[in-house]
Amino acid sequence: MSYPYQIRSAEQYQAAYKKSVDHPEEFWSDIASNFQWRKPWDKVLEWDFKKPTIKWFNGGKLNITENCIDRHLEKLGNKPAIIWEPNDPEEYHRVLTYRELYNKVVQFGNVLKNNGIKKGDRVCIYMGMVPELAIAVLACARIGAIHSVVFGGFSAQSIADRLQDAKAEFVITCDGAYRGNKEIPLKSVIDDALVQCPFVKRVVVLTRTRTAVSMLKGRDVWWEDEVKKVETQGNHDCPAEEMDAEDMLFILYTSGSTGKPKGVVHTCGGYMVYANYSFVNVFQYQPGDVFFCTADIGWITGHSYIVYGPLSAGATTLLFEGVPTWPDAGRFWDIVDKYKVNTLYTAPTAIRSLMGFGLEPVQKHDLGSLKVLGTVGEPINEEAWHWYDENIGKKKCPIVDTWWQTETGGVLISNMAGITPAKPSFATLPLPGVQPILVDENGKEVVGNGVSGNLCIKFPWPGMLRTTYGDHERCRTNYFATYDNLYFTGDGCLRDEEGNYRITGRVDDVLNVSGHRIGTAEVENAINMHTGVVESAVVGYPHDIKGQGIYAFVIYQGHGDSDDKMARQDIAQTVSRIIGPIAKPDKIQFVSGLPKTRSGKIMRRILRKIAEGETDKLGDISTLLDPAVVEEIKNGKL
Ligand code: WT7
Repeated sequence: MSYPYQIRSAEQYQAAYKKSVDHPEEFWSDIASNFQWRKPWDKVLEWDFKKPTIKWFNGGKLNITENCIDRHLEKLGNKPAIIWEPNDPEEYHRVLTYRELYNKVVQFGNVLKNNGIKKGDRVCIYMGMVPELAIAVLACARIGAIHSVVFGGFSAQSIADRLQDAKAEFVITCDGAYRGNKEIPLKSVIDDALVQCPFVKRVVVLTRTRTAVSMLKGRDVWWEDEVKKVETQGNHDCPAEEMDAEDMLFILYTSGSTGKPKGVVHTCGGYMVYANYSFVNVFQYQPGDVFFCTADIGWITGHSYIVYGPLSAGATTLLFEGVPTWPDAGRFWDIVDKYKVNTLYTAPTAIRSLMGFGLEPVQKHDLGSLKVLGTVGEPINEEAWHWYDENIGKKKCPIVDTWWQTETGGVLISNMAGITPAKPSFATLPLPGVQPILVDENGKEVVGNGVSGNLCIKFPWPGMLRTTYGDHERCRTNYFATYDNLYFTGDGCLRDEEGNYRITGRVDDVLNVSGHRIGTAEVENAINMHTGVVESAVVGYPHDIKGQGIYAFVIYQGHGDSDDKMARQDIAQTVSRIIGPIAKPDKIQFVSGLPKTRSGKIMRRILRKIAEGETDKLGDISTLLDPAVVEEIKNGKL
């Protein structure tokens, strides 16, 4: 593969950027013409942010799996497409060449068809990080089914909510998953979820942990049995479904400022072009490179930079089942040396947690294969940036700080490895094709450099979300209604004197905990499910490793007359059961009241300041219904 659209110098970056603004349609059609289309598009772009309507390459026909697999077979058939490193380093790893991946995807595509799944059907995938997860995703895409991957750490309730929202009648799961020294009983979680989802017709279960599971007759089937059936049928072909560029490719749920996660929708053509373009340019991928993204496929990072970006570029992508600290804190570095990884893409929270183990686990390793390092998910503090640069990159690997979101499909703001300069804790510059703008609260553009504001994007790019599943109005109000004619990211941002962007964090009621997005309202809803809870308010506070921790102020009935510690554990457990362990509050403080305005609105600003320990900066509290409660909360701070 060659990438004629790969930008190779700072001058080319400037020229490409200018072209993308002056002639966006030409810019993107040049890039899109490097893919395999069954039929070319009629129109490069149609858009109206007010509705919103966004259509890229409309009328074009394609299948993303032909671009990720079939087109590579002739030249790269024997090249590793996926290297899988299991949780337990003692277990043997697996390599799937492009040819083998093709065979598996075709085979599983036929399994899906045999089970009645067809174009447009929603398929929920709830699996651990095994190669079959990527195979399931690609098999859905091959037959035109819409995948909705749910991270293996989410609870039964979260799965049920997502199944209901997407009206998904099909589920693909595993008996269980390994994560460090833990075994997660995935199928049993699915069973709990399906009590609320009688419309689910079929559950395909892959064997991984050999945990005992119960299989419901007529509904549940084994992956292995279904594959055997396809083999017996002698069916070695699964023609890729011809998809319109704007047909849905997948739904991925993410948290917002309301209680209910929303199903972000990405479509086939634009997403493919953007995932590939951003992959090739940001990481400066070179043929032969081994790319290791440590995210889970359950998040957008895994969709774009474990599966679709690397495979569409004919790259070798590494899929890791385990966690960075098990069996020890040298796990990432073992993997880097074992497979001669060239690019490592991870999260600041992982870096900070590994920093805590000192240099010993690092020093045992060579790490000489590394060329490029990347971070994603949250602002990276300078200390972590320098540690990564000095100890992992040995000061010879450019670090790309990539800012983007589930909704953006791929990286929007980042330096390009070795091409445009890095600046610690800055995402730096927009990719060509991306037009950021900062606005103040009133939506007025903040012009010039050395300024800050709310980050918006003023022109569409191919990888942006098209809607939120089943509720287009929600998409409009969430992203396109805050500021006229702009996509609003929800992030605060500053632009330095040179025009570099630094993302400063969310400005809405969304937390970023270990790079995972969690809505405060969602956590509050879960806390309020506990029988003893009267009311709660959740805010974020700075946390050394997680970036942000979750601080809950709770009015609890039995407070004082029972065992508070037990009650707090119980509440945390409730949240874990309702959402998943990632949403468990780090601190729960019992209070007798919450600071409210006379109209009954909780003053989160005050709670945030208290949680952050800035109790002397509470501002004016005289407008509160009961100012005295603030004093009590301050004194009880954990
Ligand atoms: C939010 C999106 C995109 C993949 C992972 C998270 C924050 C993301 C950065 C970065 C500062 C970042 C933003 C954004 N974020 N990358 N490089 N620097 N902040 O995806 O769950 O959709 O969350 O993560 O606040 O809005 P997500």
